[in-house]
Amino acid sequence: MSAYDSLLRRRSLSKVGPTAPSHLELLRFVDAAGTVADHSSLHPWRFISLRGEQRDRLGEAFAEADGGDVVKYISKARRAPLLIAAVVSTRPSSKIADWEQEAVAAGVTHNLSLLLDEAGWGVMWRTGHLTRTEPVRRMHRLAPNEQLLGWLYVGDAPGGPRELRRKRVNPSDHLSEL
Ligand SMILES: Cc1cc2nc3c(=O)[nH]c(=O)nc-3n(C[C@H](O)[C@H](O)[C@H](O)COP(=O)(O)O)c2cc1C
Repeated sequence: MSAYDSLLRRRSLSKVGPTAPSHLELLRFVDAAGTVADHSSLHPWRFISLRGEQRDRLGEAFAEADGGDVVKYISKARRAPLLIAAVVSTRPSSKIADWEQEAVAAGVTHNLSLLLDEAGWGVMWRTGHLTRTEPVRRMHRLAPNEQLLGWLYVGDAPGGPRELRRKRVNPSDHLSEL
């Protein structure tokens, strides 16, 4: 499938099944996703996978962050068998601003989401108001120069090939000439 076709076909899936890609399969996707344009090749990003009971620690961190119901948050974190935390790891640089590095990390995450979708996995990028709270940072063992960009929730796409229709943007609203 061409990149053009993959992009037009991609859809987020909020409800996924219990099977997830293996670590080995993920490595292959991360390899390709990491080919984004990257000013000075700083590679200012990394991913952390959460599977099985590791997901409960995210639910517990959410509950600690807002004093909420831990059972509710654990069940939210268990909405997919695999969560992939996307992290921007800002490198010290006098030349490359933080926002440029965030653009790179977001680009890699979009690529990874597209590759998973193209391979037939269900994917949804999720965040929420607790994403950058201290308990959630601590639980992921982030370094001081790191921030979360959210999680890709990944599982199998129940029901086989999807025929979700996409409401397309009007490209003329998003492209002008100076
Ligand atoms: C950085 C980021 C964070 C997001 N966080 C959420 C979220 O917390 N909850 C949600 O319902 N959708 C969230 N979304 C949107 C979904 O991932 C998805 O794009 C949206 O449901 C539209 O579906 P589509 O991707 O098939 O167009 C987020 C998207 C991005 C890029």
